[in-house]
Amino acid sequence: MGANIKGIAKKVAVLTGGGDSSAINDFIRTLVILLKKKDIEVVGIKNSYRGLIEDSLTDLSIKMVDGICGTGGTIIGTSRTNPYKIERAVERILKNIEGNKIDVLVCAGGNDTLTVASKLAKEGINVIGVPQTIDNDICGTDYSIGFHSAIKNIVSATNMILSSNVSHEKEMLVEVMGRDSGFLTIRSAITLGADGALIPEFPVDVDKMCSLIERRRKKGKKYGLFMVSEGVKIKGGQLLQKELDVFGNVKLGGIVYPLAEMIDKKIGIKPRVNVLGYIQRGGVPSAYDCYLSTIFATGAVDNILNNKFGVMVGIESEKPKNVPISDAIDELKLVDRNTYEFVNSLGDLW
Ligand code: F6P
Repeated sequence: MGANIKGIAKKVAVLTGGGDSSAINDFIRTLVILLKKKDIEVVGIKNSYRGLIEDSLTDLSIKMVDGICGTGGTIIGTSRTNPYKIERAVERILKNIEGNKIDVLVCAGGNDTLTVASKLAKEGINVIGVPQTIDNDICGTDYSIGFHSAIKNIVSATNMILSSNVSHEKEMLVEVMGRDSGFLTIRSAITLGADGALIPEFPVDVDKMCSLIERRRKKGKKYGLFMVSEGVKIKGGQLLQKELDVFGNVKLGGIVYPLAEMIDKKIGIKPRVNVLGYIQRGGVPSAYDCYLSTIFATGAVDNILNNKFGVMVGIESEKPKNVPISDAIDELKLVDRNTYEFVNSLGDLW
């Protein structure tokens, strides 16, 4: 195993890591079909790096991937496993890759999964990365698999609760995922015509938010919709949860509850709260995510056929492009101030 493949790879392994999202199965299906057409064997690693440590692999045949298009989740499973935090795990990974005669490892996931992939590339493994996270926070690509499907889910779920909000003349805070970056919040706020988007990149000034609500109410706008990132920071406030996952990420969820309390305390108006949770990650993928999965699978196979490794397949202006994995994970992609201010200015019109 290693950087030297004589001719073309004979066996490719694929794993999906971190938080799942819709359209991963579409990616797996296209990858398998394209590789089989070239007579390259494909195996799936079960549950991300955990399967690689435990030598838990499954053959991926054309029959197995038939009909999985348009289904949520990942047929090969996922997990948050950090082999660099488990004793002798990397050693076992290297041994299992060699033992199973795997020439190339395709890793589809977010920053944590790609960070491990990048380290494995340095150990000499032929790695190809694929951006897959609803957060869309990976550098070097306009989009990652899962983002557009999550937007679809957020918009559809919020539309279901919005009418009650309007009828009851309430303010409402809807919490969405996205951990450190606010792309899901910003994009769904635009799509829903929300009155505000609160994101991790810019701490919320609760006083300002309260005066916005009061000002609008005085003018006759008696309800409001605020999309809130789970990782938003409140000026002068604290993050609620302290539990960390194996990659050192703070486990988030529920920030809208104290935020609603703070607003109530200040102006006597208590917004309704909704935490959308895992509904955002499941279900039928969006059309764009299905298309993206095909582009990424095609890019990954092109790299395999050309022995091009240590790269992540991304998309820029609708064209596939390769980025060194190390560049993709160097820093998180974040929402810029102009976009944030623009989206929030739309709710300020009253
Ligand atoms: O990384 C994707 C993501 O959905 C984040 O938006 C969220 O903070 C996290 O996963 C939730 O993690 P878990 O699936 O471990 O609860």
